[in-house]
Amino acid sequence: RRSREKRTMAGTRLLLVAALLCSCTQLLAEANSWWVPAPPPQRPEMYIIGAQPVCSQLPGLSPGQRKLCQLYQEHMVYIGEGAKNAIKECQYQFRQRRWNCSTVDNTSVFGRVMKIGSREAAFTYAVSAAGVVNAISRACREGELSTCGCSRTARPKDLPRDWLWGGCGDNVEYGYRFAKEFVDAREREKNYAKGSEDQARTLMNLQNNEAGRRAVYKLADVACKCHGVSGSCSLKTCWLQLADFRKVGDLLKEKYDSAAAMRISRKGKLELVNNRFNSPTQEDLVYIDPSPDYCLRNETTGSLGTQGRLCNKTSEGMDGCELMCCGRGYDQFKSIQVERCHCKFHWCCFVKCKKCTEIVDQYVCK
Ligand SMILES: *[C@@H]1O[C@H](CO)[C@@H](O)[C@H](O)[C@H]1NC(C)=O
Ligand SMILES: *[C@@H]1O[C@H](CO)[C@@H](O)[C@H](O)[C@H]1NC(C)=O
Ligand SMILES: *[C@@H]1O[C@H](CO)[C@@H](O)[C@H](O)[C@H]1NC(C)=O
Ligand SMILES: *[C@@H]1O[C@H](CO)[C@@H](O)[C@H](O)[C@H]1NC(C)=O
Repeated sequence: RRSREKRTMAGTRLLLVAALLCSCTQLLAEANSWWVPAPPPQRPEMYIIGAQPVCSQLPGLSPGQRKLCQLYQEHMVYIGEGAKNAIKECQYQFRQRRWNCSTVDNTSVFGRVMKIGSREAAFTYAVSAAGVVNAISRACREGELSTCGCSRTARPKDLPRDWLWGGCGDNVEYGYRFAKEFVDAREREKNYAKGSEDQARTLMNLQNNEAGRRAVYKLADVACKCHGVSGSCSLKTCWLQLADFRKVGDLLKEKYDSAAAMRISRKGKLELVNNRFNSPTQEDLVYIDPSPDYCLRNETTGSLGTQGRLCNKTSEGMDGCELMCCGRGYDQFKSIQVERCHCKFHWCCFVKCKKCTEIVDQYVCK
């Protein structure tokens, strides 16, 4: 009996190896087609002609991005998804702050093009770039894109010997490269005078885009699944898996808190304003302009102001009425909250609850 088990296991392994080889050839093709500026192989005319209306209708793309849109049209829906997910994460991370990740100008796919190079702009760029890496890497794994497939990251050296490396992993390498090309295109097509404010902003955006991409790359980790006779876990298959995007948001929020203030040198390089601090690495966020206080609406700074924002009367933090309302005071109103309550477990197996309504005091900034 044991020998038969061995044989089936060897069989599984063979199949896996075959599958690996297959995906390798596919991935080699992927490596070659990458950045060769030619349309994808199947029915190129469909991409070129069919793409144009879509790509010219998408708001907020730069000329270079429009071209990439035409070449990689099937990527666009994932770019949009990634950007949307990024904005949602941004709103979560900043839900209790005066700046809540909304801006006056939300017309582009990336929304939130911010005119001043603040810390908040830095976060916005980083999280958007991260969102694109995330969405494209996953789309590759799910087989949604013709130019990429499963991750081909090498087997980690510390993976126990008898564990298989071969599940279909999120293709973070492709996601990273694609996002670099696509997201940075907007910055690379500009050609500002060395040492100018505009050049400073371009370098700032590039640095923050990179930090965002690296956050996704860094947090991706090995995931494994057990196989083997009746759940014995004698065999494990492992692959590369993206972290939950919340973790990326958390990491970038930390980077936001420790972001470095920079200025442009005459030679056209970003340098620290205060060189007592350590130079930022490629994983760090940088900014060139001080943040406004976000108290009042101002089109120039992209601030919506905090009028009408809910605040917490008893909190002494940023979400407290004192800080949130910038000392303008607040209005109180009653609101009805419906909650599940008096829940009972019924045999077997469901939970039945009643609906309770409660009148709570809420506060909004004047
Ligand atoms: C921009 O914001 C306005 C108001 O918040 C909203 O109605 C509109 O749909 C938004 N546009 C985009 C492109 O998200
Ligand atoms: C908006 O902010 C800019 C830059 O801080 C400032 O110069 C301008 O006066 C502000 N505008 C209004 C209407 O408050
Ligand atoms: C953010 O704040 C603005 C202005 O105060 C408000 O209109 C908007 O609903 C808030 N957005 C979120 C997601 O809380
Ligand atoms: C308001 O802030 C207090 C103190 O930080 C906290 O205990 C409470 O849960 C907050 N209330 C709401 C509704 O968030």
